[in-house]
Amino acid sequence: MTKSAKLTIGEKVIDLPIHSPTLGPDVLDIRKLYAEADVFTYDPGFTSTAACESTITYIDGDKGELLYRGYPIEQLAERSHYLEVCYLLLYGELPNAAQAADFEYRITRHTMLHEQIHYFFRGFRRDSHPMATMVGVVGAMSAFYHDSLDINDPWQREVAAIRMIAKLPTIAAMAYKYSIGQPFNYPQNHLDYAGNFLHMCFAVPAESYTVNPVLAKAMDRIMMLHADHEQNASTSTVRLAGSSGANPFACIAAGIACLWGPAHGGANQACLEMLREIGTVDRIPEYIRRAKDKDDPFRLMGFGHRVYKNFDPRAKVMKESADEVLGLLGIENNPTLQVAKELERIALEDEYFVSKKLYPNVDFYSGIILDAMGFPTSMFTPIFAISRTVGWISQWKEMIGDPTQKIGRPRQLYKGEKTRDYVDLRHR
Ligand code: SDX
Repeated sequence: MTKSAKLTIGEKVIDLPIHSPTLGPDVLDIRKLYAEADVFTYDPGFTSTAACESTITYIDGDKGELLYRGYPIEQLAERSHYLEVCYLLLYGELPNAAQAADFEYRITRHTMLHEQIHYFFRGFRRDSHPMATMVGVVGAMSAFYHDSLDINDPWQREVAAIRMIAKLPTIAAMAYKYSIGQPFNYPQNHLDYAGNFLHMCFAVPAESYTVNPVLAKAMDRIMMLHADHEQNASTSTVRLAGSSGANPFACIAAGIACLWGPAHGGANQACLEMLREIGTVDRIPEYIRRAKDKDDPFRLMGFGHRVYKNFDPRAKVMKESADEVLGLLGIENNPTLQVAKELERIALEDEYFVSKKLYPNVDFYSGIILDAMGFPTSMFTPIFAISRTVGWISQWKEMIGDPTQKIGRPRQLYKGEKTRDYVDLRHR
């Protein structure tokens, strides 16, 4: 029996269907509201709005739960690896051995970039932020890979997806090398996905480079934790861009641009810079005070979340990984890690953060691990972008593959001038 809600507006009573999900809250279907009642709903930050139907990722903010295709992130982080998670997000099921081998083969053999694309980098200043370079180069991929631009061809959609997952690490590593004036490294097919990325970032022609397996495993886990996250700002950007029929490379470039913001994927860079600015444990109370001061724009970066009103499950795994990696590297007394742990302890005992349900999010500890690996803070968000590309592409494929999808076109609450006549300059 279909559930529904009755909305009374003046003399009108509108029946609004209620749809029940597999997990999570019911949704009120308001698609006919404007036609029947001549009113819009108003939800500027989309805090109460389901923009689409999806089967990919589920988040329960109250329980601190994150599922990729139904599998809890904690189990995947412990027992899976990034390319297997990519397969799961893209195709909906964990691969068997043959499917996993074929997928890894296809990704591995798409990691190189068209040689002409190397020249794109030359146009950027050396001190460009790698995110600026990545937005430019990923968008420009649509100027090269003309055989995977037709979004109506399932095969071309598949090729574009493989190319993006395979090439984003190469592009990010090139952006990093370009920013430090070192030569690019080509991908090495004998290395796994995370190890290949570390090699492309840190190998130099002057000496041999061996991937540290501890760091490669930590990088792979960081990539799994960031792979997808329901309808966050950058994923919603990719979906909205895709709804116009834009090609997949342009849509992913739009997602990278949105992720860059410090309220979103840029928070990992901002968080480590904040921890460094705090510097020592005795300076934490001053920053806690500032974070609570409404007249001070300062916020605790890496804290709070639109959905998680409990611990971000990714932050828990990331914190364990930070302890493990820094311990194995013999830097467990890393001052930044000590400040982070003390800041978390103090904040979680403070009424302001407790009452507003502000907990560490995925960005709070990730920067400490990436810093220990040798990455500059400017590379933190590019690494988030590499990881999230599979989520963006999976959500984009789901939307494009939906025969009922249409261009996204929100309306507004207009508070501007009423109609008025033009006044000639001589009368103003
Ligand atoms: C990511 O959506 C996703 O899923 C994103 C992400 C993903 O995987 O895609 O999870 C990745 O973006 C994680 C979030 C990274 N951002 C940061 O760490 C930046 C710092 N956090 C905040 O800017 C903020 O918490 C947001 C943006 C994350 C969430 O903001 P909301 O949901 O719009 O919440 P809000 O701004 O309305 O805050 C609610 C209250 C406010 O106080 P009041 O107006 O009610 O008095 O909490 C306060 C805020 O001032 N608050 C903070 C705070 N975050 C919120 N106060 C101090 N420090 C903070 N970090």
